[in-house]
Amino acid sequence: MSNLLVTGGAGFIGANFVHYWMKAYPEDNVIVLDALTYAGNKANLNPVAENPNFVFCHGDICDTVLVETLLREHQVDTLVHFAAESHVDRSITGPDAFIETNIIGTHSLLKAAKKVWLDESLHKENHRFHHVSTDEVYGTLEPNDPAFSETTPYAPNSPYSASKAASDHLVRAYHHTYGLNVTTSNCSNNYGPYHFPEKLIPLVITNILHDKPLPIYGDGQQIRDWLYVEDHARGIESVIKKGRLGECYNIGGINEWANIDIVQEICAMVDEEFSRDQKLAETYPEAKSAIAAQSDSLITFVKDRAGHDRRYAIDPVKSNTELGYSPKETFATGLRKTVAWYLNNQDWWRAVMDGSYQSWVEEQYQIPETDVGV
Ligand code: NAD
Ligand code: DAU
Repeated sequence: MSNLLVTGGAGFIGANFVHYWMKAYPEDNVIVLDALTYAGNKANLNPVAENPNFVFCHGDICDTVLVETLLREHQVDTLVHFAAESHVDRSITGPDAFIETNIIGTHSLLKAAKKVWLDESLHKENHRFHHVSTDEVYGTLEPNDPAFSETTPYAPNSPYSASKAASDHLVRAYHHTYGLNVTTSNCSNNYGPYHFPEKLIPLVITNILHDKPLPIYGDGQQIRDWLYVEDHARGIESVIKKGRLGECYNIGGINEWANIDIVQEICAMVDEEFSRDQKLAETYPEAKSAIAAQSDSLITFVKDRAGHDRRYAIDPVKSNTELGYSPKETFATGLRKTVAWYLNNQDWWRAVMDGSYQSWVEEQYQIPETDVGV
């Protein structure tokens, strides 16, 4: 039996991880620490919130004393660190929050873990700090470059990826210098339920349902390596259970897609759902292009993201050979599940897409409101 502290557990991947873990290990206690920023939503945790083994703490990872108290009071032996500012576009317009949460916040957790686990000897031997990081720390790839391996030199290009790279280095240093039991996973792009609709896949689905333009940055030929979020949760589980201390593991799906192709794929899937299920037209009367089986007419090329990385791809050999990890979901099945989840959960995404979020997006990209796709 373990006591887990999960930071950022009310966000997209954190919440999916909590659902996965509590099902897989019902005897474990899970404490979520989350500041409930615009990206955090307690509703993401609804089904587990009733579980007596679950506790939610509304607080900031930068509050070291709070973290120390949680570690002591709940006898935490495993800390899984998801909390972060995670959206590249926001890091370009407002990097400060990224430095604060991703760097200072991670350091605050490391300090608290060192103090309670090592200096005060609570779980001195048997503790784990697992840091959830990203493939973006490796920078960008040319079309024929080999995929990112764990030995690819760090070359972060955005304030987001630079802040994650800094946090990875701090985690490594706390292992090397103080002997904290750490592991790090660097994962590729996730998709699935509870994904905040500022990221490409949920943005495209929800914009189709609003009959809004689907903004494609630049030429749309940028490549990402997509992984279904539950497969990421399983990857983290493998690292926690079988990973070697002090090591980093890349987690990915061998699933490279150009942005424009994904958007076309989603348009086709949504159109197909609308023609298969006539009730969707009543549920989403605004979705005129989907009703006419022409969602792709909403595709709109817009100004490129500043410093836009061209290609990410994960070499999964280490996690595969050392941990026996490989994803279960294919992109076809994962994307279909995801589209179905958004079609069936409009209460969720309508609630998280409040006015301030919409106006922020529209200000950034000057997306036209009318004349598209009708
Ligand atoms: P998210 O933005 O959906 O969620 C982040 C969560 O952290 C939110 O619940 C938010 O309220 C919380 N949070 C933010 N600042 C906090 C603070 N100071 N104190 C406490 N809580 C705070 O992010 P996500 O997409 O779920 O990503 C989770 C982690 O996984 C991040 O570390 C990210 O870098 C990493 N990651 C994400 C992806 C991806 O595709 N989304 C891929 C690889 C790695
Ligand atoms: O690679 C892992 C990373 O994946 C994570 O570390 C980040 O937290 C996560 O946000 C994600 O970063 P990306 O920048 O790759 O994801 P995003 O969904 O923002 O964009 C995916 C691609 O789609 C990227 O090339 C930019 C492009 N894009 C995105 C949006 C929101 C568009 O063309 N139009 C859009 O409106």
